[in-house]
Amino acid sequence: MIESPDPAATDSGTTTPPSSPFSCDLASAEATAELARLIAEQLQPGDCLLLAGPIGAGKTHFARSLIQSLMPVPEDVPSPTFTLVQTYDLPGCDLWHADLYRLSALEEIEELGLVEAFEEAICLIEWPDRLAELTPAHALQLSLSLDPALEDSRHLTLTWTDPKWQHRLDQIASLNRASSPPAQPTPSESQYDQS
Ligand SMILES: Nc1ncnc2c1ncn2[C@@H]1O[C@H](COP(=O)(O)OP(=O)(O)OP(=O)(O)O)[C@@H](O)[C@H]1O
Ligand SMILES: [Mg+2]
Repeated sequence: MIESPDPAATDSGTTTPPSSPFSCDLASAEATAELARLIAEQLQPGDCLLLAGPIGAGKTHFARSLIQSLMPVPEDVPSPTFTLVQTYDLPGCDLWHADLYRLSALEEIEELGLVEAFEEAICLIEWPDRLAELTPAHALQLSLSLDPALEDSRHLTLTWTDPKWQHRLDQIASLNRASSPPAQPTPSESQYDQS
């Protein structure tokens, strides 16, 4: 299970300024899915998650877990590798899942309707570097990395500039803390550090 940062152990519990990264180790595919479900609970229309990382890092796994957790009846969530975009009509909000790896021109972003979706829908974007100057400034950036020596482990770093994400991530941290056993991990033991 993902551990949250212990405020007493991080900067004396002071508020971290926007853009400060959260980072965590995700020891298994299920740990990644669990974090995706926690983040899903915090999302609102107009929120955008940029999922960066190399091939096989777990971007689609994260997105699929998040989308399925928001479905009233879980359905198949295909990777949008060839379609570029898959849309989902979820309760209360549309969700767009994009994989821009095969994007051929920046104009396609507008043609797909993604620019409007950034403001109106929940958007999950794989290979967000393809967005270039169309990258939404209000997005939460999630960067997954993998170590070939650790097959099922991933490292995730979260960054943002829109201050709304600080509150959302604090919510996730406190939810996780509430479900943790009474003995809190020491900073060195925590999987989920705010640095
Ligand atoms: N800790 C982990 N987090 C995420 N995925 C993991 C983890 N451990 C193992 N995996 C596995 O790694 C694979 C990641 O594949 P996935 O398609 O999500 O990668 P991707 O980043 O979307 O790659 P691509 O750039 O090709 O789209 C999945 O099979 C998943 O089960
Ligand atoms: Mg993918």
